[in-house]
Amino acid sequence: MSRPSPIDQAQAFDAATESRLRAMPCGKWTRYEPDVLPLWVADMDFPVAHVVRAALHEHVDCGSLGYPPKQGLPDLLPAVVDRLESRFGWSVPGEAVRPMPGVIPALFVATEATSAPGDEVIVQPPVYPPFFSVIEQAGRRLLNDKLIDDGAGYRMDVAALRAAITPATRTLIFCNPHNPTGRVFSRAELEALAEVVLEHRLWVISDELHADLVYDGQHLPFASLDTELSQRTLTLYGPTKAFNLAGLRIAFMISENPALLAHVVDRAGHRMPGANVLAQAATIAAYRGGDAWLEAALDYLRENRDYVQRRLRDDAPTVRAHPPEGTYLTWLDLREAGLGDDPCATLLERGRLALNPGPDYGAGGDGFARLNFATSRATLHEALDRLVATVRGDR
Ligand SMILES: Cc1ncc(COP(=O)(O)O)c(C=O)c1O
Repeated sequence: MSRPSPIDQAQAFDAATESRLRAMPCGKWTRYEPDVLPLWVADMDFPVAHVVRAALHEHVDCGSLGYPPKQGLPDLLPAVVDRLESRFGWSVPGEAVRPMPGVIPALFVATEATSAPGDEVIVQPPVYPPFFSVIEQAGRRLLNDKLIDDGAGYRMDVAALRAAITPATRTLIFCNPHNPTGRVFSRAELEALAEVVLEHRLWVISDELHADLVYDGQHLPFASLDTELSQRTLTLYGPTKAFNLAGLRIAFMISENPALLAHVVDRAGHRMPGANVLAQAATIAAYRGGDAWLEAALDYLRENRDYVQRRLRDDAPTVRAHPPEGTYLTWLDLREAGLGDDPCATLLERGRLALNPGPDYGAGGDGFARLNFATSRATLHEALDRLVATVRGDR
């Protein structure tokens, strides 16, 4: 398969039309009735990069779908290590990287390994909903350190965090880039958080799955800030958001503390299988050859992000949203949009537009919704038309 030019690539993103997507066997487009536009779950509507599809074909065609080697396909760990170095300036040895079948299973085992039943685990809501279920199902207690909207954007409230910590507080589940607010935390913000972590000897599970999807600024791996911090941190990273591979199921747990990593892996035992072999082949292809596709996707997404901002400002000013610095998600404040207590239900019923309901994201989510703008421009225009018309009472 030859590689498409950047222009062909933008056309491929445009070509993700509604009729094509509705025919795809994917959860995003099959969950709702056929007249609903689904801008919910965090999958992109774009076709997967040619290099990744070619690698998958090649692997299938070699005829071997048996267990991969224990540490993964031969170039898997080197590809991850090289990427962390080249993209984020973070240098780790291959032994610091463990392939896992997804971030959520990794979150479970990391939470269980760094805390005991009844311990408190910190999250920073509004935040990715499975963080709450992980804590609840593991029998840990939730400690909220709510993000604050200071008018310019969401900020961590480190002073409140410091005050809330008790002797039972053990682990912080951190999300950066942050889902759903799209914040990419600055070095100064990360350093302020790091101070609290070190002061209270917390463990950190740092979910950095969206690290490759950054428009403004630079993603800094939390563990890369400081040697002592690196010893207390388990980082979760992978190709599934940036390269649109969520159905393949793969993620990496990374820690420069070999004893901590071994402890997590031992505790997980057979409950945690390795990553599947096709996901490994796809990851190698994406990390070794997918960056031209990713850059084209980021250019397209940046324009989509800005379009959402323009439409809201011009046509629905009661709906507020900060432009995300990373991720392809916009966190919509619908509290003054006149859509009732459950704006998502109204948008679905009247607007035929499916977004993620804000209350699922914990404290600070009431009256909000998450919109996924990783779709073709035509679909996004139609979605914003529907949103605007619903807010204006025209639908
Ligand atoms: C921040 C974050 N973490 C984890 C996940 C899920 O990861 P996985 O599919 O690897 O379990 C998502 C999916 O959208 C996410 O946004």
